[in-house]
Amino acid sequence: MKVLVFNDNNALAEFAASEMIELLKKKPAAVICLASGDSPKLTCELFVKKATTEKINLESFIFIGLDEWVGLSPKTKGSCESDFQNRLFDPLGIRPSQYHLFDGLSNNLEKECADMDAFIKKKGGIDLMVVGIGMNGHIGFNEPGVDFNLLSHVIDLDETTVSVGQKYFSEPVSLQKGITLGLGHLMNSKKLLLLANGKRKSMVIKKAVEETISNLFPASIVQQHPESYVLIDEDAGSLLDKSKIK
Ligand code: F6R
Repeated sequence: MKVLVFNDNNALAEFAASEMIELLKKKPAAVICLASGDSPKLTCELFVKKATTEKINLESFIFIGLDEWVGLSPKTKGSCESDFQNRLFDPLGIRPSQYHLFDGLSNNLEKECADMDAFIKKKGGIDLMVVGIGMNGHIGFNEPGVDFNLLSHVIDLDETTVSVGQKYFSEPVSLQKGITLGLGHLMNSKKLLLLANGKRKSMVIKKAVEETISNLFPASIVQQHPESYVLIDEDAGSLLDKSKIK
């Protein structure tokens, strides 16, 4: 794990977007998995800009959605799918055959999980994961206490996730379960970027990178990934022991 501290979120997002672009230049059929939510928002914007101005060939790029709220329609503004659609698929003309997302409305969520795992396997694994960190240390919907070895699964959402999650919606929604890639996928990914910005993420970042690795704080698993980068702005890194920053 390497911790990279940027002056601000713009510089952080520039770096993350460039990582995606460089990967696609080297490997046009790369498999990239992204979280939705606030953390990767600017990265997506800059990725779209760079991909357009640099005329990156996105014909064979494969996109995986990290997670979805169970019970929400993809049309609901605030669902993960609506984020991906608005941030990436529409502006870049990514075709449905190029992406695989969880259907939170499926009446067979186990099959959703099995299909996702099979899709990732068939595509040769995930080249790059770009994720955020929740206020309870979750990544995706891998909530505190999750088994580190799981692949795709359905999980009861932690109360922090339920309350913080309301920020994505214009009116209160009932959030109970999530469907998510597991930390097994995270550990199997070839490269991992964890993004966090702002003071409110400073404590969770400190725990993720400095505390003992434990499933009670799932994001601590980034310490174990051989090719993981924690990208933070100065605010998110404000509580870190500076001697540990590379
Ligand atoms: C969203 C996701 C979540 C978020 C995390 C941080 O798809 O997987 O784990 O990344 O809750 O959310 P933000 O970025 O909104 O602070």
